[in-house]
Amino acid sequence: VLTHGGRADLVGRHVVVSAGGTREYLDPVRFLGNRSSGLQGYAIARAAAARGAEVTLVAANVTLPDPAGLKVVRVGTTAELRDAVVSAAAGADAVVMAAAPADFRPTGVSEAKIKKAADGSAPTIELIQNPDILAEISHHRTKPGQVVVGFAAETGDETGSVLDLAAAKLKRKGCDLLVVNDVSGGAVFGSGVNKAVILGADGGHVDVQEGAKSALAEVIWDQIVTRLGER
Ligand code: CTP
Ligand code: CA
Repeated sequence: VLTHGGRADLVGRHVVVSAGGTREYLDPVRFLGNRSSGLQGYAIARAAAARGAEVTLVAANVTLPDPAGLKVVRVGTTAELRDAVVSAAAGADAVVMAAAPADFRPTGVSEAKIKKAADGSAPTIELIQNPDILAEISHHRTKPGQVVVGFAAETGDETGSVLDLAAAKLKRKGCDLLVVNDVSGGAVFGSGVNKAVILGADGGHVDVQEGAKSALAEVIWDQIVTRLGER
């Protein structure tokens, strides 16, 4: 099973990876969701298993089949994702939050399908913020030396460049590593390739050239393994 240059550097480690995008239902048939396919998270989970880790993959609305040899937990909403990740993270050596949780959910779910009004008016949907899973995991580590990794899909705007925004997010979340994608244009969604910068809370900065999501997955584990080794 050890394919990464024959390296077995995650043997004896338990890791948790989240993947996909959560959905928040408005009524029995409609939801607020996002464009995450789960491909990058699945590549990260598979890479860890190949390097010898015991892997729990928490998959939110992913249409890909369960990869062999790892534990897959299927979830739908951000609240379900939170519960599954927090529970799997207890005692884990590393947690990688590659999933895209919906940031908001409706204050209530209508039990019946929402109907159109005859007068042409539209309903107003009231939203509340979902819990921040990455910040919670980062600030309540359940194992000394646990390495926590976040993702950030950013577009630069008038408040800052992609890297400025990412550096602020890394700090705010309290994680050890932040994998930053520039998503201006929307190219990464559902695609097999990705390009990223991996920022470290220790000031680290690794540029990963455009390549397969499986190649980025290996670089992410290289960065995690270095930090596991230091602890
Ligand atoms: N994340 C999380 N819980 C949330 C939202 C995001 O754990 N409720 C995680 C994502 O899995 C990702 C990281 O936080 O690893 C950054 O996600 P992002 O959407 O970029 O961050 P937000 O804090 O939601 O900020 P933004 O307003 O830019 O969406
Ligand atoms: Ca968000």
